[in-house]
Amino acid sequence: MWNAAIGDALVKLKQNIVKHPGKLPHIIEGQRYEWGENNDWIEGFYIGMMWLAYEYGQDTFYKESAEDYLTNFEERLEQHVALDHHDIGFLYSLSAVAEWRVTGNEAARQVALKAAETLLKRWRPQIGIIQAWGLEDDPENGGRMIIDCLLNLPLLFWAYEQTQDQRYYDVAMRHALISQKFLVRGDGSSYHTFYFDRANGNAIRGGTHQGYEDGSTWTRGQAWGIYGFALAYRYTKHDAFLDTSKRLAKYFIEHMPEDDVVYWDFDVPVEAGTPRDSSASAITACGLLELLELTSEDDSSRQMFADALDRTMRALVEKYATTDIPAAEGLLKHGSYHVRGDRAPDDYMIWGDYFYLEALVRLEKGIKGYWYVK
Ligand code: GLY
Repeated sequence: MWNAAIGDALVKLKQNIVKHPGKLPHIIEGQRYEWGENNDWIEGFYIGMMWLAYEYGQDTFYKESAEDYLTNFEERLEQHVALDHHDIGFLYSLSAVAEWRVTGNEAARQVALKAAETLLKRWRPQIGIIQAWGLEDDPENGGRMIIDCLLNLPLLFWAYEQTQDQRYYDVAMRHALISQKFLVRGDGSSYHTFYFDRANGNAIRGGTHQGYEDGSTWTRGQAWGIYGFALAYRYTKHDAFLDTSKRLAKYFIEHMPEDDVVYWDFDVPVEAGTPRDSSASAITACGLLELLELTSEDDSSRQMFADALDRTMRALVEKYATTDIPAAEGLLKHGSYHVRGDRAPDDYMIWGDYFYLEALVRLEKGIKGYWYVK
């Protein structure tokens, strides 16, 4: 039943690849992408879409297109191009790990392992976190973690499985534990970020960067938490991570608006024109698919998760997909990047496109995203 939506997505992906050879999509306002170099946190999503497209229909155009970018990702790593952040997991799980998983290419596996080693450099043992942004001595960001990082952990867990090097596992496990303790609140909502004292590791406060206000719940952050803790459970089998993912999912579902696609923050006063974040709904759909696989048949939450998944995907396909705009470069309308900072508050988001396609191909053919080995 998701065939037509997938067909439209694959046509648009092919259009982009043909029209912008060797380039990668960047966020920009005006319902379009800016096509540039490999120097932001988001480039992996485009490559991940090519692998999903190849796995779905076996069209070697997508495989060859994705393979063409491996050297580019390797050079970025070797030349340390714009890697003073933790999003190395997003970048390399969906490019190098994906290529290795689909084709078995040893060179891709080596690139992914080097990326995992680079990510380890952001570990701050005196606090027990992977530092999100900036340099170690950055006064504001030196002791800061953000909920998004949960999707960077699969690269470390994967590297542990590949090498049995305990450092990867321990860092990912400890970061997931501290995230659970400080980013998730008692009612199942979440902080976007949390600050610690760099000198002694003491907890200071929760806050936000892209959310409405410090104590609010940024919907995309909540979505990263749902999927991220489910993935942490998949790797560690630590029951509390599954429970946390479920609590975050219930909060998200109970606060879904009438049209089933969330606004950019659960606490923002809603009025005409309040921006949505379709990407948060797409990420959550992937998290719910993961939860449905990880929870047992007699789990009382399963029906709620299955209903919310169905409502979300129908709303995205019927009301948010660009199926009515054949020349569109993006797949989902009404994503938001940083509303409060007035950066792309209502545009295409390449990660929204990736997670939308990931959910669709998983629903249709059971093809999973590149966060773990099948
Ligand atoms: N990880 C950055 C974002 O979700 O905007």
